[in-house]
Amino acid sequence: MKHTTLFPLALFVAMFVSCSNQSAVESSCVDNPVVNTIMARRSIRKYQDRPVDRAQMDTILRCGLNAPNGMNRQDWAVRVVDNPEFLNGITSLYLEKMGERGVRMASEPGWRNMFRNAPTVVFVAAPEGGELNVGLLGENMMLAAWSMGIGSCCLGGPIAFMRDEAAAPYVERLKLPEGYRLVYAIAMGYADESPEAKPRDLSKAFYVE
Ligand SMILES: Cc1cc2nc3c(=O)[nH]c(=O)nc-3n(C[C@H](O)[C@H](O)[C@H](O)COP(=O)(O)O)c2cc1C
Repeated sequence: MKHTTLFPLALFVAMFVSCSNQSAVESSCVDNPVVNTIMARRSIRKYQDRPVDRAQMDTILRCGLNAPNGMNRQDWAVRVVDNPEFLNGITSLYLEKMGERGVRMASEPGWRNMFRNAPTVVFVAAPEGGELNVGLLGENMMLAAWSMGIGSCCLGGPIAFMRDEAAAPYVERLKLPEGYRLVYAIAMGYADESPEAKPRDLSKAFYVE
């Protein structure tokens, strides 16, 4: 038999052996673009100095809005900010509020803003009880972004300050519907780092017989 005929068989055997030795969570076993994107995505905290292209951002937003949500009520609000005046302005207020800690933060190498230095920030808001819906929306956006070569980082940290009275002039500009509050933000941009995957505890998921 020629090598060309044997090769696919050898590949199949190799894949079968490797998959049957590993947990389904640990190894994808499936060469599929969705699975590959999910397994490759990492939180990015260093970005190139250019905002996300708006045509790409439109696709990312549509992917977010296509997420499953309770009774398709779509009670979420998503705001994209790529205006440096906004991001730098709110960061200045944040640094002021932080005092000495703020001075130290701003002197760190590569520091640009309080959103992990991202040039584009997506703010996500929901009414009380809508946190699960917006969580699903956000992951759709982060995975879509990664598949298009755009890095992201989910951010809970900056939201505490954004709920502070000091940040009100900027939060008002987001024009959130009545009764909605910010749940988290997503830093987005073209990655300027490629961090390693953080370990996952596979014992957190198991079959119940
Ligand atoms: C709800 C939530 C809040 C987060 N808040 C922050 C944050 O404020 N700052 C930050 O740098 N990363 C934040 N992260 C990112 C996590 O640190 C990150 O997802 C985790 O360490 C796993 O790393 P990976 O995303 O690269 O797999 C947050 C993630 C989630 C889901």
